Amino acid sequence: MAFLVFEGLDGSGKSTLIKKLNQLLSDQGHQTVLTHEPGGTELAEEIRNLILKTDGEAPVSMAELLLYEASRAQHVEKLLRPSLQQNKWVLCDRYYGSTLAFQCGGRGLDREMVDKLNRVATGGLEPDLWVLLDLSLEESERRRMSRNEDADRLEQEKADFHERVRNYYLDLAKAEPEKWLVLNAEASPEDLFKELQSSLKERQWLS
Ligand code: TYD
Repeated sequence: MAFLVFEGLDGSGKSTLIKKLNQLLSDQGHQTVLTHEPGGTELAEEIRNLILKTDGEAPVSMAELLLYEASRAQHVEKLLRPSLQQNKWVLCDRYYGSTLAFQCGGRGLDREMVDKLNRVATGGLEPDLWVLLDLSLEESERRRMSRNEDADRLEQEKADFHERVRNYYLDLAKAEPEKWLVLNAEASPEDLFKELQSSLKERQWLS
């Protein structure tokens, strides 16, 4: 079993890739948990709605950060740790890598302070691998438009915000290449899945 986190801009194809991997793992007889942040438990989903809703008062950056961390603390203790203790594979759509990229990279919050809060919220629980689906801004935008859904509050941010987020992700991956697998999200879903599979085989997590 392993704890894998998928990160990237909106529209980068995380959920399709997670579903494909989940199917393969189930076919091989593994027990899996498919989850996401913000959210993943009942209370954490309520916090998610508070963060992402577009009507009413928007949280200031610090309140937004603390809401993500509150949702994370609940998720780690109620779902992530228990699932890993039961030897399940955990596939998580976003984790504290999103906080680094969006709140430090996008909003410009202080990295040291955010690192501290991440450690508090996660209790030090680290994924075995971060999978970054790297996508150009133009393609992310194009995909979001074609989904034709209402944009959430984060999606309404301007292009330079998303550019900073993307670059911050790439810097995180560059700083710790053994912990991050960077995939070019413009590849087809099939090719992305093949790349992920072979990387998991190399690490001997998959047969
Ligand atoms: P979500 O809707 O799950 O992303 P997606 O559109 O890829 O399915 O995530 C909601 C937004 O929250 C997303 O734009 C990224 C942002 N986010 C942060 O800013 N910080 C965080 O710590 C997390 C977990 C998410």
